[in-house]
Amino acid sequence: MNNQYEKMDHWSLKAQKEGYPARSVYKLKEMDEKFGLLRNVRGGRVLDIGAAPGSWSLYALRKMAGAGFLAAVDLSPLSRAFDRGLFEGDNFFFVQGDVYDASIREALVARGPYRLVMSDVAPSTTGNRSVDTLRSLALAEEVVNYAELCLEAGGNLVVKVFQGGDTQEILKRMRLLFTSARGFKPETCRPESFETYYLGIGKR
Ligand SMILES: C[S@@+](CC[C@H](N)C(=O)[O-])C[C@H]1O[C@@H](n2cnc3c(N)ncnc32)[C@H](O)[C@@H]1O
Repeated sequence: MNNQYEKMDHWSLKAQKEGYPARSVYKLKEMDEKFGLLRNVRGGRVLDIGAAPGSWSLYALRKMAGAGFLAAVDLSPLSRAFDRGLFEGDNFFFVQGDVYDASIREALVARGPYRLVMSDVAPSTTGNRSVDTLRSLALAEEVVNYAELCLEAGGNLVVKVFQGGDTQEILKRMRLLFTSARGFKPETCRPESFETYYLGIGKR
C-alpha cells in the first residue's frame, strides 16, 4: 500500500468516525472555515445540489443547529447510516431526481429563496477526460442557473468544476452575478484529482 492510498483511506475513515458517510465533508468544512459560508446563512435557507450520500447536507444541518432550512437533491438516495434522524426533520427536504428535470427545479425553487447554494455535483466518470469535463461543465452551468433563479441578494454559491475545458466562461458569468468570484482547491482534494471549486460571494 503506498502513502497516497493510506492518506485517502485515512480521510474516509476519519469521516466515518466523525459521523459522515464520505470524505468530501472536509472540502466543505475547509471552504466554510475559510469563507464563512454557513455563518452567512444565519437561519436562512440552503440548497445542496448533488447531495448524496449526504456529508455536505449533514455538515450544514449540524452547523445550522435546528435554525433555517436545507433542501437537497441527487439522482441517488442519501445514506441513512449517520444522520441520527436529521434527514427526517421539518427543516430538511430531499428530492431524488435530476437537476435538469423541470419538475425537480420547480420543487426546489418553490422551497427557496436560498442564502447559500452549494454543489458538489459530479457526473459519473467515464475515464475519458474530455467527456467527463464537458459533463461537469454542463452540470456546473446548471447549478449557476439555479443560483441565478433562487439565490437571495447577498447570498453565496459554491460549485464544483472539473478543470480543463471552458471553465473560465463559468467564472466570467459568476463575476457578473456576484460581487466577487474565485476558484479554490481544498487541500483535502485528492492530489491527482482535477476537480476544483468556484465560489461566488455576495449575489448582486
Ligand atoms: C461527489 S458526489 C456528492 C457528495 C456529497 N457532497 C457528500 O458530501 O456526500 C456527486 C453527486 O452528484 C450527483 N449527480 C450527478 N449528476 C446529477 C444530476 N444530473 N442530478 C442530480 N444529482 C446528480 C451524483 O449522483 C453524486 O451523488
